[in-house]
Amino acid sequence: MPEARYNSVAVALHWAIAILILGQIAGGLVMDRLPNASPWKFHLYQLHKSVGLTIFALTFARLGWRLTHKVPALPATMPGWQKVAARAIHWAFYALLILTPLAGWALVSVSPRDIPTVWFGLIEIPHLPFFEGVADRDAAEDAMERRHKLLSFTILFLLALHLGAALKHGFFNRDGVLRSMAPAARAWIGIAALFALLGAGSIYSLNSEVWTPGPGAASPAVEVRESAAAPETDKSPSASDEPAAHEPGDAPNWIVDASASSLRFVGEESGRRLEGAFSDFTAQIRFDENALDRSWVRVEVRTASGATGDILIDLEIAGNAWFDVEDHPAALFVSDDFRHIGGDSYEAAGALTIKEFTQPVTLAFTLAIDGDAARAKGSADLIRTDFGLGENPSWLEEENVALEVGVEFEIAATRAD
Ligand code: HEM
Repeated sequence: MPEARYNSVAVALHWAIAILILGQIAGGLVMDRLPNASPWKFHLYQLHKSVGLTIFALTFARLGWRLTHKVPALPATMPGWQKVAARAIHWAFYALLILTPLAGWALVSVSPRDIPTVWFGLIEIPHLPFFEGVADRDAAEDAMERRHKLLSFTILFLLALHLGAALKHGFFNRDGVLRSMAPAARAWIGIAALFALLGAGSIYSLNSEVWTPGPGAASPAVEVRESAAAPETDKSPSASDEPAAHEPGDAPNWIVDASASSLRFVGEESGRRLEGAFSDFTAQIRFDENALDRSWVRVEVRTASGATGDILIDLEIAGNAWFDVEDHPAALFVSDDFRHIGGDSYEAAGALTIKEFTQPVTLAFTLAIDGDAARAKGSADLIRTDFGLGENPSWLEEENVALEVGVEFEIAATRAD
């Protein structure tokens, strides 16, 4: 004998998913139309992906319930074609609530931007694995985006039919169909608990402290970045990467104190200043201020160690999207061409190799030597596209990611011989 009404689990899932879907569609339309310079855009995308995947999971829970429980019979007075239409719409909802998030997930998985999805800032959700061989990722992303949009609007269309029919049964036929899905106290508690959790997750993930704690700050962002970082590889710049003109000089050797040295970068993303630092770099220095022609420096930077404190950007840096970390785990600067500008100011003209690109770069720095201790502080401005950094179409738009990147360093070293 079928039940007269749906039980609290089914009712709670039904209304929670319904509210989430409406929010998801409205949110999707808003976020897509925000200007790229809006600092909210990036975060709303993450929220959209988190809520979408939650709907995906809840739909499986609901489907599980549906396949293991008897549902209330439709009224005997209802015409046969309406019963068939009602059941068809219900099953179409299940299909759409699985296919729509799947299309969204596919869209971010195939996107050349390779932006990770971090569920409510807590758990990194891997990309779907089916797109590795796709050559034109831009076109595939567009195609998937159109499907995602079409499926979302189909949900809206079916929602309108479903709601119209439910209201007709509730207020015109008064046959108990609407009442069978009306939330009772227990269902309300379930819905409220779910939204409290999702609300807490949203606040946590949108909280600026979590996303942008600033370079070096201890935060969940750093932990996730480390766990998701590309695996350590033995690859270091090969002999062919090394600019040939530079040979070690025979000036005194200086040992760098890593704990008192830093290598920072400053850029701009969607109108906001973005600062970060590479925590893993080594420098070999042969330097004599009285014999600059015998001086030489070689700095090797493990590119995956770059971190800004923004979890998503850090995940991108540690992956292949920017530095192609798997094939080019290190960037290299070598110079044997030093000039004394005057006072404590110097210049080092050298070659910087990032990925397969080598370009001349001049570092301007000040130098203070006190006995065997030295401290150098300097900077250089780079155009990131000279090194093939961020070449997908969206990042090439300067309003999204500035082309100019400032590099600033401070090196503390002790004379060894
Ligand atoms: C039932 C769940 C979902 C619904 C109803 C939904 C709905 C929407 C809607 C209405 C848009 C705006 C379309 C436009 O204006 O072009 C959108 C965009 C988007 N959605 Fe979803 N979405 C869902 C789940 C997901 C999931 C799970 C992901 C990824 C994991 C996702 C990723 C995206 C992305 C990246 C966009 C922006 C596409 C663009 O660049 O224009 N969505 N979604």
